[in-house]
Amino acid sequence: MSSRVARATDGAIIGWIGAIREYDGLVWQLHPLVVDGAQRRHGVGRALVLDLEAILTARGGLTLWAGTDDLAGETSLGGIDLYSALPGAFGAVGSWGHHPLPFYRRLGFHVIGVMPDANGPGRPDIFIGKRLGA
Ligand SMILES: CC(C)(COP(=O)(O)OP(=O)(O)OC[C@H]1O[C@@H](n2cnc3c(N)ncnc32)[C@H](O)[C@@H]1OP(=O)(O)O)[C@@H](O)C(=O)NCCC(=O)NCCS
Repeated sequence: MSSRVARATDGAIIGWIGAIREYDGLVWQLHPLVVDGAQRRHGVGRALVLDLEAILTARGGLTLWAGTDDLAGETSLGGIDLYSALPGAFGAVGSWGHHPLPFYRRLGFHVIGVMPDANGPGRPDIFIGKRLGA
């Protein structure tokens, strides 16, 4: 496990990121990641992820991934029977609302998998990942 926080100039914690070691350290699961609601869209999330990537790359990590649950039908993989839609559903995964997929895409992550019905019927966990050190 590796964990870091972001602080404002007054010392207040405004963001938290962590990573879980997997596959003998070649793969790391990004969890958790959260930025204070009042501080979003100011680059804190990006700074936390880039800082974590540098640390994990130095440790020999090759892949960083995360699960991004779709609990509210905020992606094109939610609210459908994924088994009948695979593999085409992966062609162009869309999202809307508060789902973090656009954030991760801005940082170079790709959709690399999905767990159908992870949170109930039609509520999948969408796996995103990127190559470290690229
Ligand atoms: C997802 C989250 C960590 C992003 O943090 P943030 O500090 O707001 O992100 P940043 O300001 O660093 O954004 C980086 C880029 O992503 C974009 N972005 C961030 N959130 C976005 C969203 N919801 N929709 C579209 N773009 C988004 C920003 O505009 C910025 O784009 P740029 O490259 O043009 O500058 C934050 O919204 C959050 O804590 N959400 C709730 C918890 C959560 O969903 N965590 C992820 C669990 S998997």
